[in-house]
Amino acid sequence: MFSSPFVLTFSLLLSLPILFFLAPRILPPKPHSFPPISPSDELDDINLFNRAISHSSNSHSNPSKFFHLSSKNPSLKIAFLFLTNTDLHFSPLWDLFFSSSPSHLFNIYIHSDPSFNLTLPLSPLFRNKFISSKPTFRSSPTLISATRRLLASALLDDPSNAYFALLSQHCIPLHSFKYTYNSLFLSPTFDSENPESSSRFGLRLKYKSFVEILSHAPKLWRRYSSRGRYAMMPEIPFEDFRVGSQFFTLTRRHALVVVKDRTLWRKFKIPCYRDDECYPEEHYFPTLLSMADPDGCTKYTLTSVNWTGTVNGHPYTYRPTEISPELILRLRKSNHSESYLFARKFTPDCLEPLMRIAKSVIFRD
Ligand SMILES: *[C@@H]1O[C@H](CO)[C@@H](O)[C@H](O)[C@H]1NC(C)=O
Ligand SMILES: *[C@@H]1O[C@H](CO)[C@@H](O)[C@H](O)[C@H]1NC(C)=O
Ligand SMILES: *[C@@H]1O[C@H](CO)[C@@H](O)[C@H](O)[C@H]1NC(C)=O
Repeated sequence: MFSSPFVLTFSLLLSLPILFFLAPRILPPKPHSFPPISPSDELDDINLFNRAISHSSNSHSNPSKFFHLSSKNPSLKIAFLFLTNTDLHFSPLWDLFFSSSPSHLFNIYIHSDPSFNLTLPLSPLFRNKFISSKPTFRSSPTLISATRRLLASALLDDPSNAYFALLSQHCIPLHSFKYTYNSLFLSPTFDSENPESSSRFGLRLKYKSFVEILSHAPKLWRRYSSRGRYAMMPEIPFEDFRVGSQFFTLTRRHALVVVKDRTLWRKFKIPCYRDDECYPEEHYFPTLLSMADPDGCTKYTLTSVNWTGTVNGHPYTYRPTEISPELILRLRKSNHSESYLFARKFTPDCLEPLMRIAKSVIFRD
């Protein structure tokens, strides 16, 4: 017979890894600095998304209709989606950007965290552009919800919204509106990685979403398992998990894919064990779109960002003394397209030096 000390030791040894393995599932997640999304907020969102879906299915959800629309209706619009939890520091610069454009070529939508009262006055262009908003927290799925609210509101509001550009209060334009618009809708050469997108009769044949999609990145596994080892299964195996910049420019077709999704959202809304390994908004959109339509995405972003010397998950933030015509030219340089169209991040007091070079440099083309 086995001696009982042996059995005891053996079973203890055996139970250690089991405990280690199960602990994250048994123990409740650590308390977070932010509350979970309430069922009533979730219900509000689902109602909004459903309205956007049924509205769009009557009109332009189908890609062939998109081209029909483009050939019949020359006023395809860009929906500029501002996601902010502070003042829109650079609204005077954006004002100048939009003032050079015919108003029938764009729309503006703002999701502003209701726990912050805007203090800076906004120009008429930005007033009344606020969509129904809810609190947002860093490293939490609330940033995904806010972005989906912006997409759904813009889908609902205007069937001519054809591209949806997500921006924050720290983003600035790097070119004139005309250059930006022509790059997205008309230029056959703008996407330098995709020569097949040649145009005919002055129209692009294939409209892609500009969303960064990376399958290899440091700490990707830790980000994947930050809700628990098997939390994302079976819908999202690790091989399908992607990372990319939160700031994208989506086609209408893809905006609808995002608003329609229920499956991935159910996983991504689960809180993480650690905030510093979470950042759901950097994973949800690239993962969803690369699963739904990888060939419809360029896999790179149009928003320039400087990750050298990153601190605490924040990119490099430019200060007033660094603003110069040379900086703008440097920020435009992209390995993937003819140019970046937007850039981040800048401290609020960069506004003045940026305004000084706006007409002579930024909006000169
Ligand atoms: C915002 O303004 C409202 C009404 O003036 C006030 O009740 C609220 O406390 C303010 N919130 C903050 C965060 O300042
Ligand atoms: C990026 O940030 C680093 C500092 O971390 C700076 O030295 C460098 O010049 C920046 N790059 C650009 C293109 O501005
Ligand atoms: C472009 O690619 C080169 C070579 O891989 C790299 O050194 C450079 O930093 C990249 N530039 C930008 C703006 O991403």
